[in-house]
Amino acid sequence: MKNALRPEQAGPAHQAMEAFIHQYSHPPDVLFRAPGRVNCIGDHTDYQGGWSLPIALTLATHVALAWRDDAQVRVGSDLHNVQFSSTLSELTQSAQRAIAGTPLEGLGGFTAAAVDLLAVDRGFDVWVTSDLPVGSGLSSSAALSLGLLSALSSPSGRAQADLIRLAQAMENRYLGVNSGILDQTAIIYARADHAVFIDAEAGTASPIPFDFASSGYQLWIIDTRTPRSLAHSAYDQRVAETRQASRDLQLPNLRAAAKDDWKRLADPILRKRARHVITENERVHQSVALAAKGRWDQVASFFTASHRSLRDDFEVSTPALDAVVNAVDGVNPYLSEGFAGARLTGAGFGGSVIALFPRSAEAHLRNAIAETAATLPVQPVIIPVAQPADGLRQVH
Ligand code: GLA
Repeated sequence: MKNALRPEQAGPAHQAMEAFIHQYSHPPDVLFRAPGRVNCIGDHTDYQGGWSLPIALTLATHVALAWRDDAQVRVGSDLHNVQFSSTLSELTQSAQRAIAGTPLEGLGGFTAAAVDLLAVDRGFDVWVTSDLPVGSGLSSSAALSLGLLSALSSPSGRAQADLIRLAQAMENRYLGVNSGILDQTAIIYARADHAVFIDAEAGTASPIPFDFASSGYQLWIIDTRTPRSLAHSAYDQRVAETRQASRDLQLPNLRAAAKDDWKRLADPILRKRARHVITENERVHQSVALAAKGRWDQVASFFTASHRSLRDDFEVSTPALDAVVNAVDGVNPYLSEGFAGARLTGAGFGGSVIALFPRSAEAHLRNAIAETAATLPVQPVIIPVAQPADGLRQVH
């Protein structure tokens, strides 16, 4: 679907168009904008059939593509100055090797996986631009895979549910990343000024008005810029532990668990993992109800409760993430009204924190984060989120 871009989105789209023309001396046939996302609440629930509540960001990846009349493929990106040419058959061969056990990586890997998954039979030129930081837990990889898959499905296009399934298959089968469907669903179904209420088991995604700004609240992403080196293996371990917990409980998944079911588990680690998933699902439902009532102070307090659960029960936090969340929580005694809450967002093990707070807390918060930053080896970066943005769109 093509639609008008908001002013803050038009600039980067224009630059992506110009970059393609500069590179290949002809305009692209299509240009897709795939935004990053932050998950407001509901982490490590999707692969257990649960609920989550992400929004899309203004930060985005743009994929511009023109079809060719031969089997050549030229791929490039402003990011890290990547540029290469190949053929369809070379890309398909490397994709097949990935399925056999050597995961692909980088832009070439994403392109090879997309070519193989879609059985692309015509060459193309593609150029990728992005202002989405990589490795910050803002879904830069799902944005890239969805942008490429959409461009390579043109002009006939693909159903939204197909794109989600294909993008997940790309990460799982070719890139060696065992992700759920949260990121892809968020990017496809996001809508400006709304959060996406995702039910992973039902496969539904409903827009929820999410206008914290007009109630005087602000949302910041605080990128700790810490490496997420453990993320893959530890993520897989959490997937395995929660599967074991649901098997021990004789349930299809932890979504089906009752409030106190975690107490029936004997293993102390599985008890904690299950308690996180069960309470986190509940926090998503409560947050949806509270957002509808404009109770952003209470939504913010659920952010902090969610972080504690991810830190203590799910054990996916890091000292840097905890330090930033504590800094946000530390401003509450200075506030005459409202509440400042924060949590890690996404898989954890590094990446970003999101903070929701009343505008009156901004100066306190800047000071608190600066003080905390002085104790950290890497300086965090604040990315204000003015409003939730639109999801994936064809802009040309
Ligand atoms: C990563 C995965 C998602 C989800 C989150 C945690 O972002 O890709 O599917 O599991 O972690 O909520």
